[in-house]
Amino acid sequence: MPGVIGVVDHRNAPRLSPLAGTFFGPDGGLLMLQDGVVPYAGCPVALVVARTPEQAKAAADALPVTYDEQPHDTHFSAGHPAARPASTVFGEDANVGDVEAELARSAVVVDEWYRTPEEHCGAMELHSATAWWDGERLQAVDCNQGPFIVATGLATLFSLEPERVRVRAEHVGGGFGSKGLCGPQLVLAVMGATLFGRPVRVTMSRHQVFLMTPPRPATEQRVRIGAGADGSLRAIDHEAAFEVSPLASYVENCVEPTKTLYAAAAIRTRLTAVPLDILPPFSVRGPGLTPGSFALESAMDEVAERLGLDPLELRLRNEPAAGPVSGLPFSRRDLVACLREGARRFGWADRDHRPRTRREGRLLAGTGLAATAFSTGALPSSASITAEADGSFTVAVGASDIGTGARTALIAVAADALRVGTDRIRMRIADSDFGPAWAAGGSRGTASWSWAITDAAAKLRERLGDPERPVTVTADTTRVLGGLPPRERHAYSAIFAQVTADPATGEVRVRRLLGMFAVGRVVNPLLARSQAVGGMIMGLSMALHEEGVRDRASGRQVNADFAGYHIAAHADVPDVEADFVPDYEPDDPSGIKGVGEIGTVGTAAAIANAVWHATGVRQRTLPIRVDRVLEDDPR
Ligand code: MOS
Repeated sequence: MPGVIGVVDHRNAPRLSPLAGTFFGPDGGLLMLQDGVVPYAGCPVALVVARTPEQAKAAADALPVTYDEQPHDTHFSAGHPAARPASTVFGEDANVGDVEAELARSAVVVDEWYRTPEEHCGAMELHSATAWWDGERLQAVDCNQGPFIVATGLATLFSLEPERVRVRAEHVGGGFGSKGLCGPQLVLAVMGATLFGRPVRVTMSRHQVFLMTPPRPATEQRVRIGAGADGSLRAIDHEAAFEVSPLASYVENCVEPTKTLYAAAAIRTRLTAVPLDILPPFSVRGPGLTPGSFALESAMDEVAERLGLDPLELRLRNEPAAGPVSGLPFSRRDLVACLREGARRFGWADRDHRPRTRREGRLLAGTGLAATAFSTGALPSSASITAEADGSFTVAVGASDIGTGARTALIAVAADALRVGTDRIRMRIADSDFGPAWAAGGSRGTASWSWAITDAAAKLRERLGDPERPVTVTADTTRVLGGLPPRERHAYSAIFAQVTADPATGEVRVRRLLGMFAVGRVVNPLLARSQAVGGMIMGLSMALHEEGVRDRASGRQVNADFAGYHIAAHADVPDVEADFVPDYEPDDPSGIKGVGEIGTVGTAAAIANAVWHATGVRQRTLPIRVDRVLEDDPR
């Protein structure tokens, strides 16, 4: 066909080596075009390289592909026979006290199941990469959340020495987790560039982004909480099952909030993975903690309901003095400040805690809250700073700005650390040649990169009398971070929601969202607020809209586009308020914790709790669709 340069498939594709020992375990999902097996619906079977995108698309559509069908299983349930204990990459299961004995002693016991569906990142920018061979060096411009980590992965996959691979990602249009690792677009582009000896760009269609970039796994979670009549928690038991692929060992760490949020005489957590014939799931927008916190914070609201207690008061009465499972001291814990200040601004004190008591015309109205924590801390990174002859400073760090404004925040950190104005800072980011650096992920980007920049600046200031210019210094935080005292380090939030529910149509609308956050020192208030508001909108979207629907017969996602997979649009989003209580991380040189994901984590539960307050019916399955509201209406 016109313009076609060649086709890559399992017969001629370069052989790939497995990514063993990465943060989340081996990722066999990237070992594409290695054999004739299609492990999940949507897996690429060939790459057509042509002169123009249109020619490539036409040729790919015309490519004859034949399949032999084999049995598959894509249907998730916690009780699936293949369910097995998940890896303990995020820490052992909690086993504090005797849960059964404490439940037996409790005045009220909540024992419920909560369910969340597959969810997709849905970044605006389509996954795209350009790769070429520059002599012996592989070069790529990619969209990802961490060029150094991606370059390392790429080198492993293609069996290259790490110095022979350079990956840049200077401009990224959103990630939300889906660009956290080496992506299929990059692997395929490198294959094409290698086979055809020319630069190759791969840009996925929106449909392909849904089918080939990892979703948040569906979860089913059983939460049992027992409390005394005074609201003191006796036992929390949280069992979370999630779907995985046998190709990877990802862990959706739903139980983390349960291990840290509340004091209780007994705490037990279990994580269960169910392997299915699906695309390997991965981090999406507050991985693990977001679905986990929906379950825990919904159950807490149910405890308050059964005790006839203000859900705010229930949380205040169960503040732990130290990590309830770890026994470690908290570095700083400002959850109470978030709850009290949020309640004050929201007007929580006036709330009648009985459900279905407020009407606005024909609409039922209600309010709800949720609290949560998100673990924070810096991860090893390096940075270098050059004092230029003209008096300016060039800072180079392998950071990634995926739309958060990280570049802007880091300029401020560097200017502070060097004690100069921001106009004298030239910030260069997102190049694997800048050395090891953590990714824009886990809410740890700003803390990790800032620490490296601050250390480099301290070194450079010692040499500023030095007449030799330019002079470059480099710092690496691996050692200093290894020496930190063990503590519980978290960001905190209290989220307040006001909703209406239409008893005739089942439509829920969020009228107001207010989040108070403790995120350590706020580097840039405008950016941090934007991050928190964006996170809360994602939580709203999760509560009401987002649901990846899988066809059992074909194993394929049915709604793999923005027409079928609804993400909250402007008309769905009300007035959103986000603000910060004074906070700092004592162990961080700049006082930073992290603001990336804390906005998302608690929001779905706050909305579901408000829907209960409005309607009198618990919504334990997300999203809170109109049919679920109607079917469960008691009248
Ligand atoms: Mo984020 S979901 O930690 O990339």
